[in-house]
Amino acid sequence: MRQIAITALTLFALAAHAEEPWGKVDLKAGETLHKKDCVACHVKMYGGDGSKIYTRDGRVLSDKLELLQRVGACNAQMNSGWFPEEEANVSAWLNKHYYHFKK
Ligand code: HEC
Repeated sequence: MRQIAITALTLFALAAHAEEPWGKVDLKAGETLHKKDCVACHVKMYGGDGSKIYTRDGRVLSDKLELLQRVGACNAQMNSGWFPEEEANVSAWLNKHYYHFKK
């Protein structure tokens, strides 16, 4: 019985991991890239370090997938030519520091 419970837990953990929309990421690379390509514009709008755009009232994002899509949209707008892995790195970094979405 105990064995079954442990197996079930392991499978659940694996399944939950597979659901990360951005897969395996490099948070450090995400932080660097975000600073380089993304911050200036948000600072112009919100002042400070620009991070208010992520924590403002009425923000529209509600989960990881939407965050990833939004990062993709901002990236496409400015034509910086990021690879999908780079969008993933930045999305995961933003989630860790500002959004804290669990799913
Ligand atoms: C040309 C200016 C500009 C640049 C450069 C820019 N953004 Fe944005 N970003 C915006 C604007 C404007 C909004 C707000 C859109 C809205 O209010 O719907 C926004 C909103 C966002 C949001 C959603 C904030 C929320 O409501 O939770 C995210 C996430 C985001 N940007 C990520 C990025 C990332 C990542 C980059 C770097 C690739 C980037 N942005 C570069 C202008 C920019």
